[in-house]
Amino acid sequence: MRIVVLVSGTGSNLQAVIDAVAAGSLDLEIAAVGADRLDTFGIERSAAAGLETFVVNFKDYASRADWDAALLSAVAAYTPDYVISSGFMRIVAPSFINAFEGRYVNTHPALLPAFPGAHGVRDAMAYGVKVTGCTVHFADAGVDTGPIIAQTPVAVLPEDTEESLHERIKIAERELLIKVLGELAQP
Ligand code: GRF
Repeated sequence: MRIVVLVSGTGSNLQAVIDAVAAGSLDLEIAAVGADRLDTFGIERSAAAGLETFVVNFKDYASRADWDAALLSAVAAYTPDYVISSGFMRIVAPSFINAFEGRYVNTHPALLPAFPGAHGVRDAMAYGVKVTGCTVHFADAGVDTGPIIAQTPVAVLPEDTEESLHERIKIAERELLIKVLGELAQP
């Protein structure tokens, strides 16, 4: 199984995948790691791990459609079996979803369908939920929508800040992503 991983930030979930592959506990090939912006630690750490990287910088494109087309062709060039959105902070075009139908996997730091969007941890805390968590799902063209593959609950502690809660969620998120990828990689 070949995957392309898309990141926008630090890529700590991606690092867990890189480590699991290196340790032999996850049997897949990371064909490339791509980002939508310059200077992400996710790209830096991927390059340091010897992986192929690419950037389709949103700001370099005159229109959204141009960026959509560039992202699709950059990812498709690696002929991945699955594309993983791991902290990739952009909604992809319907053309991208069609090209990778049932093969575009997203991770989200909340128990979808609750608290979609860029601030899933903050929104869950603001609501006052006592349990939140993480979701790995097949992404469609919506914001954090599409069939759920797996979820892990995480308790919200009275002393939690958004950062402390997100860090605990990310520990669960990494484990869940690796488990799901392992299952998808089964022949
Ligand atoms: C993850 O919680 C992801 O679900 C969210 O942003 C975080 C990405 O963290 N969208 P990292 O880039 O893997 O460190």
